[in-house]
Amino acid sequence: ALISLRQLLDHAAEYDYGLPAFNINNMEQILSIMKAANEVDSPVILQASAGARGYAGESFLRKMVEAAIEQYPHIPICMHQDHGASPKVCQMAIRSGFSSVMMDGSLHEDGKTPASYEYNMEVTRRVVEFAHAVGVSVEGELGVLGSLETGMAGEEDGVGAEGKLDESQLLTDPDEAAAFVEATKVDALAIAIGTSHGAYKFTRPPSADTLSIKRIREIHAKIPNTHLVMHGSSSVPQALLEQIREYGGDIKETYGVPVSQIVEGIKNGVRKVNIDTDIRLAMTAAIRAYMYQHPGEFDPRKYFKEATTAAQQLCKERFEAFGSAGQA
Ligand code: G3H
Ligand code: 13P
Ligand code: NA
Ligand code: ZN
Repeated sequence: ALISLRQLLDHAAEYDYGLPAFNINNMEQILSIMKAANEVDSPVILQASAGARGYAGESFLRKMVEAAIEQYPHIPICMHQDHGASPKVCQMAIRSGFSSVMMDGSLHEDGKTPASYEYNMEVTRRVVEFAHAVGVSVEGELGVLGSLETGMAGEEDGVGAEGKLDESQLLTDPDEAAAFVEATKVDALAIAIGTSHGAYKFTRPPSADTLSIKRIREIHAKIPNTHLVMHGSSSVPQALLEQIREYGGDIKETYGVPVSQIVEGIKNGVRKVNIDTDIRLAMTAAIRAYMYQHPGEFDPRKYFKEATTAAQQLCKERFEAFGSAGQA
């Protein structure tokens, strides 16, 4: 059944667990997430970016999620707009049946230029007004997402600030977070704590202070009833990178956020954990290996099945590690 983000995360807060929010673009990604959730009995957040809408199209996106709801009626599913760049995008998502939207006013509509606090507050407040009127939850973002190690926003196309960021932008200010929530009434808040989007987060294996767990704790203390969201939470498993390289891929040395640090974040108030890159890596590694090992095969179902199984395994591991397994 379709459920709002607020309902889902209120439950997560009450029972002290976190929920992965996986990005979806096609049927195989949705299938792998749903199969994993079904296997371990976890609620689900499916999120779609503007890029997903461009890839699959509005109707396919909506109908694929409807199919997931129909096929798994016993699993609570939240359908969330990821990184809505304007109130218009959020409005469109709501019209399309999404139960949650993110108004990312930390950046201007171009998705690149950091915006002022006032701009962010104004657009987010407007979205909350029309979203709450129809029972849809809203996630805002305060601070500019970027790697604490490199100072860069990451290599995702479409979402992310340009150029080098300074530390005051890279860590969300707790007092500003409290004022922002008070002014906008968002249900969830994405905070900057040192992660960035994409596969290239860190150039070295992360240490204990790769993320600012301390900052999560400080923000959570100020706004205990607003659910904290961690973007850029892919772990970039080294085994997947090795598999991609072994079968002809070319990915340079890079590191993601260790699952153990995400779990630490959840203990300190994080409830929604955004993951896109890890599913991309899992599917690509599986397809590369399959293609290499079966050079004569040309039925797409064969390699998409491998990709789905690999992504399913990854999703299952995250549901279990974050504690959402058994909570559906
Ligand atoms: O935050 C960005 C997500 O990973 C979505 O990426 O814009 O390429 O769909 P995308
Ligand atoms: P990753 O690129 O680390 O998977 O982050 C995805 C994300 O934050 C989507 O909003
Ligand atoms: Na989001
Ligand atoms: Zn994000």
